[in-house]
Amino acid sequence: MIHVRNAWHVAAWSSDIAAEKPSAISILGEPVVIWRSASGTIQALEDRCVHRLAPLSLGRCEGESLRCMYHGLLFGPDGVVQEIPGQELIPARARVRSYPVADRHDWIWVWMGDPALADEALIPPAVGISEPEWILGHGQLDYAAEARLICDNLLDFSHLTYVHAQSFGAGPEFAEHQPKITPLERGVRVSRWIPAPANSPRNPHDVAVEAYQTYDFLVPGVLLMWSGNYPEGTAARLGDLAPEMADALSGLNFTSQAVTSTGPGTARYFFSWGPHCRDGDDAKRDMMMVMAGQAFAEDKTMIEAQQRVIAATPDPQIMPTAHDRAVTLYNRLVERLARDNPAELESAA
Ligand code: FES
Repeated sequence: MIHVRNAWHVAAWSSDIAAEKPSAISILGEPVVIWRSASGTIQALEDRCVHRLAPLSLGRCEGESLRCMYHGLLFGPDGVVQEIPGQELIPARARVRSYPVADRHDWIWVWMGDPALADEALIPPAVGISEPEWILGHGQLDYAAEARLICDNLLDFSHLTYVHAQSFGAGPEFAEHQPKITPLERGVRVSRWIPAPANSPRNPHDVAVEAYQTYDFLVPGVLLMWSGNYPEGTAARLGDLAPEMADALSGLNFTSQAVTSTGPGTARYFFSWGPHCRDGDDAKRDMMMVMAGQAFAEDKTMIEAQQRVIAATPDPQIMPTAHDRAVTLYNRLVERLARDNPAELESAA
């Protein structure tokens, strides 16, 4: 399976990484330990002691360093061993890999590729759950499926008509109409005008509305989507182009989602969703999260079943349809980024 290593991978919710409590996380099949040092700095190292491979996530924080609690080797935040109890000489190979790490938008991001290329400007502009303009709930799911299958699902919303007819109340328009697809430097933009769902709450302006929905899907698997309702006729007036977010009449909401490959055949899916503060409150957020919980469980059932069929199929092949344009564009981008960085082709996860 090909992955983009030279990208920021979501490792955890920031609030789940407590001070001086190392956390074990697997990304692309690599064991990573993440912790906040005494000064509050976030750190990430290979979770495998250079001595006898004990997990450093069972270790003890000491200032900016982390001590393996098997035989006591002390590791600096750069992964270099600073102390070996009972031994003066520290060999040059006494080190583990350190990863560039960032705490941004309420997620912890880890750069899995060449540290020299770790540019924080490449962190996708997610909306964090503490952003005051939005009222967001959040959660995560562990998948027994390849991350790529979840990315494929998020790049083709025609499945909403069938998988989420009950939970999201999605109508036939997702399957019957093609969205506008725009290639981006590190992803794909998928946008569409749709009639407001029949079961959507009546808007306070009491006018007929149509909905606009747009998302960017960015490497290594981050979906950033907003949607809102506009007076009927807006799409025609704009020639089907994008409206201003601020002009939405009602129903403005945002979701940030991230798919992280944790290893071969496994992934973790992080998500937040909720209304803009001018269009909702905590009760609306809670109602949306109930809906999302049901919908994301529907996706998980389908994708894990798909994974089992693929695993049992010798030489599995697919037959793309017209709805696969965004999937194909994105997967070609992933392959190009992997070609440009041959080390990425070596990823087994
Ligand atoms: Fe870490 Fe021995 S395994 S000090």
